[in-house]
Amino acid sequence: MMTVETMEQLRTSEQLTANPDAPLMQLKELHVEFGKQHVLRDINLSFKSGQTIVVIGESGCGKTVMLKSIIGLIKPTRGEILYRGRDLATFNEREMTELRTRFGFVFQQAALFDSLTIGQNVAFPLKQHRAMSDEEMDQTVRQALFDVGLPESVIYKRPAELSGGMRKRVGLARALVMDPELMLRRADDRVGSDHE
Ligand SMILES: Nc1ncnc2c1ncn2[C@@H]1O[C@H](COP(=O)(O)OP(=O)(O)O)[C@@H](O)[C@H]1O
Ligand SMILES: [Mg+2]
Repeated sequence: MMTVETMEQLRTSEQLTANPDAPLMQLKELHVEFGKQHVLRDINLSFKSGQTIVVIGESGCGKTVMLKSIIGLIKPTRGEILYRGRDLATFNEREMTELRTRFGFVFQQAALFDSLTIGQNVAFPLKQHRAMSDEEMDQTVRQALFDVGLPESVIYKRPAELSGGMRKRVGLARALVMDPELMLRRADDRVGSDHE
């Protein structure tokens, strides 16, 4: 399973946006074929801000292919993928990179850096992509840890000192600090439980 969540808070930029009132993402008559294999056939979906969409299907049915299409890693054979009304096919590399910074991903294994503290892990994307003071960064990190229900005391710990469930929450916090418009994650990685 995979969930696609859209955030209430939006950061729109005129550069990327054809129509700010259009749905966040739309899939229109999307087909993806690999040779003779039709993986996605005539998918029509609209993601609005604030919605959670859950895609369920057996292994190999095309969930990851759909996700990769949404983030522009797989080009549709036919049909369109629109971000706020604008076809991803018209985005250049720089715009695609900019778009991906607005999407949050939580990877299966949370993929934390073992040698960094939890605080440094959560701050990592901010250091890469945002200009903010150390104080502001510290505040943002603490807020994100609070939002995912982790105690402040984890901030100086290392990933190995946390349970698997807590590490997943850290992965979510790291995606949330970027204030994403769209959050993509595997539903079986939900962080409702501290048990594996
Ligand atoms: N880049 C690719 N080239 C060729 N076939 C692919 C590619 N990516 C996925 N597929 C095929 O598409 C089908 C759907 O895969 P996938 O989206 O990974 O399924 P799942 O629903 O388990 O995430 C599978 O048959 C897979 O082998
Ligand atoms: Mg998959």
